[in-house]
Amino acid sequence: MALLSTLLAANLLALTAVPPLGLPPLPVPADNPISEEKIALGRKLFFDRRLSFNGTLSCAMCHIPEQGFTQHEVKTPVGIEGSFVKRNSPALYNVGYRTTLFHDGREDTLENQVWQPLLRENEMANPSIGFVLSTIRGAADYDGLFEAVFERGVAMEGVGKALASYQRSLLSADSPFDRWYFAGDKQAMSESAVRGFALFKSKACVSCHIIGTQYALFSDGEFHDTGIGYFKAMIADKGEVGNIRLAPGVEVRPTIQFQVPSVSDLGRYEATGRANDRWLYSTPALRNVAITAPYMHDGSLPNLQAVVEFYNRGAIPHAELDSRLKPLGLKREQIEDLVNFLRALTGSNIEQLQRDARSTNIGNP
Ligand code: HEC
Ligand code: HEC
Repeated sequence: MALLSTLLAANLLALTAVPPLGLPPLPVPADNPISEEKIALGRKLFFDRRLSFNGTLSCAMCHIPEQGFTQHEVKTPVGIEGSFVKRNSPALYNVGYRTTLFHDGREDTLENQVWQPLLRENEMANPSIGFVLSTIRGAADYDGLFEAVFERGVAMEGVGKALASYQRSLLSADSPFDRWYFAGDKQAMSESAVRGFALFKSKACVSCHIIGTQYALFSDGEFHDTGIGYFKAMIADKGEVGNIRLAPGVEVRPTIQFQVPSVSDLGRYEATGRANDRWLYSTPALRNVAITAPYMHDGSLPNLQAVVEFYNRGAIPHAELDSRLKPLGLKREQIEDLVNFLRALTGSNIEQLQRDARSTNIGNP
């Protein structure tokens, strides 16, 4: 196993020192420098199912490496014992550049963020921080690991720092777009994707999904109203019975009438309490978007075609809709071009990151 691990593990530390083409230098907090051992410890924690209350659910089960560090089969993930989770799992590629975390931006550091899934009743459901720490202390395979990295035993800070370092190292770029745009390789993108790029600029996509002159993060780090939250609250959930979930990925529309509780999602408002922030959601970065379906904060759009058609219709018109979103009048070939541009944003090291993930010994060794 040790030999296999060495063969599979990627040099993530090298990636963080020199990020792939198209990404800026990686911001690393001064009090949490990255090291190989810290990444390895974070990776081990990320895949460890013992870290949930009943020992079944790891971070990686909602952020599946083979599925773009998100989940393809479901719009929103299933938490502990089948619990409902109201939002789509974000893909974790390049998460180290995000200035706010979660669709509503309620956290701003990876170090702190980890405690939300660990403690939330419907996710990993641990009753307390102490409970998580004693689970780790009780697992013999962690003996000495925290001491070696942090010069002290298992502690809250170390769990956050190790998990943050692993996630920060999940860098992926050097896509066909990057080679075409930043390295001047004229052959790197198809003609259709090049036309799609022109549309991406002329149709104002780029005003929120930003492309810089030296690098591109495809997000402005801001929150916007694209109408999805509004639609769900004011139209989809009004009086009508929606789909009922029978099992992950299996939904039916009942033919009899009965009341189902609707889950409210007020977006950015949930992080700030400001009325104007209702139904605003964080702008996702679009790198690797072709391999991170389904889309939007609720996973309501199944593929890229559906996303581009959504924008082509002018999103969901209502009073607070961002003024940049209007019907685009794209023809069928232009929709295809824009989709092909989005497909050209897939990084060159996706398989390497998947293999690296598999270098971990998962749970109960
Ligand atoms: C039950 C499924 C589930 C589990 C388990 C889970 N996550 Fe998540 N994760 C989500 C969902 C859903 C969101 C978005 C929640 C929101 O926006 O309110 C999320 C958001 C995040 C984000 C923010 C990403 C961004 O771009 O804003 C990070 C980072 C993250 N999770 C890491 C982790 C780590 C680390 C663990 C394990 C300690 C973990 N997750 C466990 C489902 C899960
Ligand atoms: C006003 C800012 C804004 C503009 C303009 C904009 N977007 Fe978005 N985009 C967003 C936000 C915010 C979301 C997330 C919405 C949500 O989670 O409900 C999003 C989501 C997406 C997603 C889904 C990503 C994912 O991981 O779920 C894609 C793809 C996308 N946009 C592409 C485009 C394209 C193509 C255009 C131009 C036609 C465009 N966007 C214009 C703000 C914008």
